[in-house]
Amino acid sequence: MKYLVILVLCLVGALAHCDKAPFVKTAWESVKHNEVDILYAVFKEYPEIQARFPQFVGKDLDNIRGSAAFATHAVRIINLLTEVISLLGNSSNIPAINNILNDLANNHKSRGITKDLFVKFNAAFINYMRAHATWNNEIEAAWNAVSEENEKIVYAIVA
Ligand code: HEM
Ligand SMILES: *[C@@H]1O[C@H](CO)[C@@H](O)[C@H](O)[C@H]1NC(C)=O
Repeated sequence: MKYLVILVLCLVGALAHCDKAPFVKTAWESVKHNEVDILYAVFKEYPEIQARFPQFVGKDLDNIRGSAAFATHAVRIINLLTEVISLLGNSSNIPAINNILNDLANNHKSRGITKDLFVKFNAAFINYMRAHATWNNEIEAAWNAVSEENEKIVYAIVA
């Protein structure tokens, strides 16, 4: 009973330090090996993102999907997300998460990647999650809350 009450308070966001991490981890476990599928879904929904990659610009998405270069890049993106998600749920890891996100934002800012492209990336990404991950309202709420915190860090830099 005690746990049910905590869970319900957690879901309505009434407990400030409620642990959303397990919900996020469950969803991520179910799709984290779909690297190529995820990048494909992002490029398909927003060709303007694909167009920013020197190695993919102007190429047919269905042709490059099976290439080694595509897999390599998909794995890089997904591994970064896997690393961040693995650090969630332990407040000692907050500085490490901030470092990863700061580096990501700075690396991309120096390539001229702006906030609007990250917003689009995130929109396509959440659509992928809704359609393919272990998902329900509780996971959606936890996922949105955690994403919002992390996006704030990236958006402040890429602007
Ligand atoms: C918002 C749209 C994005 C664009 C247009 C973009 C574009 C790029 C480009 C052009 C590169 C260099 C690729 C190369 O030369 O091989 C790159 C590298 C990389 N991207 Fe992105 N990216 C985006 C979002 C993301 C996101 C959301 C993540 C992870 C969550 C990510 C993770 C990485 C990683 C790990 C690398 C390799 C390390 C580095 O060079 O920074 N990217 N990205
Ligand atoms: C939390 O993270 C710190 C720093 O990474 C680590 O030393 C500690 O063992 C972690 N605690 C738990 C419960 O995982």
